[in-house]
Amino acid sequence: MEFTSMFKFCGFASIFFVFLIHSLVRFFNSSRRKLPLPPGSLGWPYVGETFQLYSQNPNVYFASKQKRYGSIFKTHILGCPCVMISSPEAAKFVLVTRAHLFKPTYPASKERMLGKQAIFFHQGDYHAKLRKLVLRAFMPEALRNIVSDIEFIAKDSIKSWEDQLINTFQEMKTFVFNVALLAIFGKDEILYRDDLKRCYYILEKGYNSMPINLPGTLFHKSMKARKELAQILAKILSTRRQMKHDHNDLLGSFMGDKESLTDEQIADNIIGVIFAARDTTASVLTWILKYLSENPRVLQAVTEEQEAIIRSKEECSDERVLTWADTKKMPITSRVIQETLRIASVLSFTFREAVDDVEYEGYLIPKGWKVLPLFRNIHHSPDIFPEPEKFDPSRFEVAPKPNTFMPFGNGIHSCPGNELAKLEISVLLHHLTTKYRWSVVGAENGIQYGPFALPQNGLPIRLSPKKVTTPKSLSQVQE
Ligand code: HEM
Repeated sequence: MEFTSMFKFCGFASIFFVFLIHSLVRFFNSSRRKLPLPPGSLGWPYVGETFQLYSQNPNVYFASKQKRYGSIFKTHILGCPCVMISSPEAAKFVLVTRAHLFKPTYPASKERMLGKQAIFFHQGDYHAKLRKLVLRAFMPEALRNIVSDIEFIAKDSIKSWEDQLINTFQEMKTFVFNVALLAIFGKDEILYRDDLKRCYYILEKGYNSMPINLPGTLFHKSMKARKELAQILAKILSTRRQMKHDHNDLLGSFMGDKESLTDEQIADNIIGVIFAARDTTASVLTWILKYLSENPRVLQAVTEEQEAIIRSKEECSDERVLTWADTKKMPITSRVIQETLRIASVLSFTFREAVDDVEYEGYLIPKGWKVLPLFRNIHHSPDIFPEPEKFDPSRFEVAPKPNTFMPFGNGIHSCPGNELAKLEISVLLHHLTTKYRWSVVGAENGIQYGPFALPQNGLPIRLSPKKVTTPKSLSQVQE
């Protein structure tokens, strides 16, 4: 009898306990539901504030919203309710400390075009595995072996611009594309360069087109080019498997025995990496040339730093090719790169989507809403970077405070190609500043707003070799 009462008591206690937990969960969920949404306006039904954003310089839109509502506000863009955030703390919350609550999100048409299995679209184990493989190929230990090859590509590119009127952005895109192929396929890249280039350029043209897959449309042509790219990649994979050599490039990393990536996964990620590398790095290079031409003193300081590297190599009778160690002796050049990354903020923001209702600073970010960390607003905050519109590389003589400088993002999706980007920019600047001068053609002061902000018309410049002044020989001096 005692045993039965005990049994009944335990039964009731467990039911009561489960009920209590359930009620508490409901209570907390419902109280979270009652949290207010961030301030801001959702605009017109469905279209929201899309026209306000796209009919002007998007940075003016972001800045005016921030001024009115503060560093977290709601809006409605391209059919999606969004929360935009522009404080370092909020960006850290979304990208780092609560990254698991915010998944990356892209329009379905972009996923189809780049490939659904590409790194940017994933979270969890598959993402972590890809990230490890990409980082393995782009970490300093791997990159130090390709400095001289990058230098070869840089010299070759600049040579082809000599005494020409060039569109800086377009030419930088070609340079960055060739470096990306080198980092992905190693020296084999030269064999496939033309075919890959032809297909990739068609694919890219359709990236921002209407996603209508009918014959004749840009989107259709892009999807066809994508298929052809995958076939070329399949051919490269099969040739490598037959050769059975080890390779230290990105493809070698993806093909490692233990990795068990499918050919489709490899193709999606190679196309994805080229995409991630190209316009970003090319637009930063374009802005650097613009800022250097507008700031002769900074250009002079960079040139002297680069000339000192040449002189020290001559004195030590080192090989004339640049080494990884040389690229680490460029503090002024690095600060120019940092300041350009800050002021141009070529990726003004990124997108995430809340996977659950999330509370931030007393506001509700509802499940399914897009969340946009606004990198540019943080980089242009006068409280963090005084006189933010002034190009002043010396501000980076002191390291910026944590989470205030995020040109390469932050957290688990931050850019694994940042070392490669900085390396190729430094190598190109070494040759440009020491052997060439350039001038911007036309009064190109405007900014072009597309997916990336660019100097007007891609910055047309004319580039010419510097006149080499050979010192007089001793006998000439004595005469
Ligand atoms: C100056 C040039 C570059 C800039 C400013 C830049 C910027 C960024 C940013 C901000 C992100 C994070 C996006 C997010 O969190 O949603 C990112 C991700 C990424 N970047 Fe870069 N990037 C540059 C160059 C490169 C290069 C050269 C490569 C490869 C060779 C590369 C490969 C990637 C990849 C694969 C990701 C996705 C990482 C992931 O999802 O885990 N990027 N980049």
